[in-house]
Amino acid sequence: MSTRNWDAVDRNPEAAAQYLDVVSRAIGPIKARSIEMLGLQPGTRVLEAGCGLGRDAETIADLVGPGGHVTGTDLSVELIGRALARTAAKRDYLNFKVADIYDLPFHANSFDAARVDRVLQHLDDPAAAVAQLAWVVRAGGRVVLLEPDWESLVVGGVDALVTRAVIGHIADNRHRSGTVGRDLAALLSDAGCHAIQIEVGNLVMPNFETMDYLASLGTALREVVEAGRVSEEAAEQWWARLKQQDVDKCFFGTMTGTIAMAIVSG
Ligand SMILES: C[S@@+](CC[C@H](N)C(=O)[O-])C[C@H]1O[C@@H](n2cnc3c(N)ncnc32)[C@H](O)[C@@H]1O
Repeated sequence: MSTRNWDAVDRNPEAAAQYLDVVSRAIGPIKARSIEMLGLQPGTRVLEAGCGLGRDAETIADLVGPGGHVTGTDLSVELIGRALARTAAKRDYLNFKVADIYDLPFHANSFDAARVDRVLQHLDDPAAAVAQLAWVVRAGGRVVLLEPDWESLVVGGVDALVTRAVIGHIADNRHRSGTVGRDLAALLSDAGCHAIQIEVGNLVMPNFETMDYLASLGTALREVVEAGRVSEEAAEQWWARLKQQDVDKCFFGTMTGTIAMAIVSG
């Protein structure tokens, strides 16, 4: 997902909103599968934590409402403001609150299910966040997590050493938990959940320009050059070849996202 600085999202909400919409279109089928894994029924009470613009919360609300209820939470005042403004007509069964995932303002057993989509990657302590989700969901309810593993990102036809430096930098330095996608099963188990199911979604990038926008490859390349880990010359060649692949229509770039579902234990 994003290499954007989500701590500063309220300083440039327009760019953040545009980015979220582009990613959502790119990973639409993976998102849809993660929503399916919530096992929703009419009447289900759902928490969507770190909901951003609240579009997934709205999709879920349309599946469970009006007898059910969905609450979307996010740290960003701006994104929650947009979610509230867009969904006023659904307020009886869809609401949004500004809230930190580390400190959810709900009692134990408040929800039948909780979902998180590309939020844990931005946290220093994903385990604390997953423990909060398991706390607010009733025993027997579901927690679904969807997160990337930035080290799974590959591009082809270019210098593999430069690629490794750039991808390692994106995973380790541009995200707080950039490889959390591989840890989801362990995190759910540590939070006291059972019956864990894992699926992996593969995102094939349509072209280099899109991959650069989604993964901020150019920024990461500049940073590894500044850190002295890649020479200017090697970086320029790597970048020029990838751009040429778009002209020649031979770009290959992929990355994976993990979906994990588990049942909260009694
Ligand atoms: C990559 S976006 C994903 C947004 C949304 N889930 C989606 O699928 O479009 C990450 C979101 O996590 C939110 N976020 C980051 N840290 C958070 C925290 N500690 N508590 C709640 N939300 C947080 C950001 O404000 C941002 O909206």
